Formats: sequence, structure tokens, C-alpha cells
Amino acid sequence: MSSGGHYVGLIDRYRARLPVTDETRIVSLSEGNTPLIELQNLSNDVARECQIYVKFEGLNPTGSFKDRGMTMAVTQALSEGAEAIICASTGNTSASAAAYAARAGMRSFVLIPDGKIALGKLAQAMIQGAVVMQIQGNFDDGMRIVKEMAHAAPVTIVNSINPYRLQGQKTAAFEIVDALGRAPDYHCIPVGNAGNISAYWTGFSEYAGVKPATAACAYCDTDCVFDFAPECDSRPVMLGYQAAGSAPFIAGSMVDDPETVATAIRIGRPQSWDLAWAASRESGGWFDSFTDAEILATQKFLASSEGLFCEPASAISVAGALADIASGKIPAGSIVTCTLTGHGLKDPDTAISQSAGGVIKVAAESDAVKRAILENL
Ligand code: F0G
Repeated sequence: MSSGGHYVGLIDRYRARLPVTDETRIVSLSEGNTPLIELQNLSNDVARECQIYVKFEGLNPTGSFKDRGMTMAVTQALSEGAEAIICASTGNTSASAAAYAARAGMRSFVLIPDGKIALGKLAQAMIQGAVVMQIQGNFDDGMRIVKEMAHAAPVTIVNSINPYRLQGQKTAAFEIVDALGRAPDYHCIPVGNAGNISAYWTGFSEYAGVKPATAACAYCDTDCVFDFAPECDSRPVMLGYQAAGSAPFIAGSMVDDPETVATAIRIGRPQSWDLAWAASRESGGWFDSFTDAEILATQKFLASSEGLFCEPASAISVAGALADIASGKIPAGSIVTCTLTGHGLKDPDTAISQSAGGVIKVAAESDAVKRAILENL
């Protein structure tokens, strides 16, 4: 598929490290290859301490990191002859599943929570032709039902319990190491269903030539991917951050009624519980939580000080990095990377509601506009 150096997606780029063959029909929207952007406008203290980079996954084709996993999961589903895929979702997985199903000519069924879904994500799933089922429950209820459907209906699950999802998502770690020319010292990431932190750990480990104790390998039980020469000589410490109202990794047990403004990570029963704990433990990392107010303040800071508009759930990775640098848990001089998992345009309501006063009503006359400029310089 690749021709003349034209980028055609992460499966093509990292083909040797992914479960595909030359015959596989790849379902791709040229996902991946997202920028790693250094934060420049932090307060001097923090800026002096460390270099902080964000991996802006909102620039994937459907606006979130889910496309990395979905290209792999739908490619695999198609190669197995599946005609339909299904997922439970807080929004982004459903948007991505709908897009890749459309691309593959498959049917997609998505279960979303009643109410609590960002408008942009709902719009994506709808226009991309998914059968959207709004269940009277939350993500965890949806996940339970989807797992039951695996035996009840001819549908392939494309939530991150599908190991091919994690295989695709691990490529974000490869890209970070490729961009920096080394592994970061710390990697900060939002945690909801906990697939992504597990995928990053798999990717960082694979690139360092180290087999994680709990490998999320999709295609065999051997160490085949570790036949490669290592691309780097270390792995980062993995830091997972959760919303205070939806923080099972802080509670140490599942949470029944998760609640947060960061609806993407409004999850009480993460499916990749063991893998995420393994990533944290093996890397010497930790979990922490932040309030909705802290999450929104960081989202606004990134948008208004750096020009980086991410969704609330994504901002928590930077909230965590800044807090842990300030407290000294992340030592001065560290190279820190943070995943901005989704684009801010996904959730316009939340952005507008915290930008009150941002629009000035002005008469359609030069004088009035001039006055408004001078008053706001
Ligand atoms: N950030 C965003 C924007 C997300 O959409 C999600 C998960 C996460 C972070 C957390 O990643 O689940 O791998 O720990 N969204 C899923 C969904 C649950 O349905 O779109 P995770």
C-alpha cells in the first residue's frame, strides 16, 4: 500500500512488529504519526525543572488515540471474516469503531451511556452509520452487556479487551521513542478502562527489548517480537491519572457509581485492571487522581497558554505531570511525556461552559470594534 514514502498508517509503518502478513487487507485511515510537542509556556519554575512533551493524539483521523487500536482490531476482524463489530464506549471508541467499520464495509453496533457522552463523539458515531444504542446505564453496564453479546450474536468485540487493540495502540510508544531518540524518563497518561496504559507499557518494553511480566501479545505465546535489536536502552516510569470521582486504581477496588466531567474516563470497572497494575508496578510508577476543577483548569491552561485544545480527560495527564514535578516526585531534569488522548472539539459543551464571557456582543460598526479591541488589549 505504501508508495514513494507517502505515510499510509501505523500498520504499514510498524508492520514487522504487528500481527499482519503481506496478504492481510489493512483497514486504515492513515492514523498515527501524531506530533510530539514540547510545552513552551509553563511557569518558569516548572519549565526549568523538566522538559515536558505532549503526544497530541487528538490529531488522529477520528480525533482520538482509539484509531491506533481500531485499525488493528478491524483489520483482524475483517481477516477473520467478521461482518459486524460491537463496542461499549464513553464516546471515542464508538466514533473510531464506526469510522473503521465504514471503511471496511462492516456493520457497527455501539453501546453508549445514557446522557453523559460528549456531543462530537455522538455526532461521529451517528453520521458514520453505527447503530447507536443508548443504554440506561453507564460504560461499565455497557461493557458487561457487550461481553455477553460475544456469545449471543455474530459480532466481534472491539473494546480494548480485544488484544489486537492494544497491539495497535502500543505504536504510540514507538513513535515517542522514535521522535525523542530515546525513551522518556516518565510517561503520564489518563486511565479509564486501562487499555492504553497497558498498551504503552507493552510498546515501551518491546522497544527496549524487555518482555513485560504480563505481555499483551495478540498473536502468539512466544517471544517473537523480542527477536528485534532494542531501539532504546530504558523504559519510562508509567504514571496513570484518574478523575477523583472515577478512581478505582486509587481506591484499590472497583467503583460502583463513577462520576466526572471528563466523561471519556467515567469508568468504575476497568477491564485491563491486572495489565495496568503490572505496568505501574514493573515501571516503578504510581496512580493519582485529580478533581474535576483541576482537570478543567489544566484543559483551559493548555488551550489558552499553549494553543493545544484537548478534551478534559486528556488534560489530566498534564495535570498529573505538573503536580508531580511541583512536589518533586518527578525529579528536576527529567524528560516527561504526556498523552493528550483526544481532541477538544469532541466536547464543545464543556469548552464553552468554562469560557463564559469569552464572546463580546459588539455593534456592526468600526468604532464599536475598535473600542472593544482597545478595552481588551
Ligand atoms: N482519554 C480519552 C479521551 C478516552 O476516550 C479514554 C477512553 C481514555 C483517555 C482512557 O483510556 O480506557 O485505555 O484507559 N475512552 C474509552 C471510550 C473508554 O469508550 O472511548 P483507557
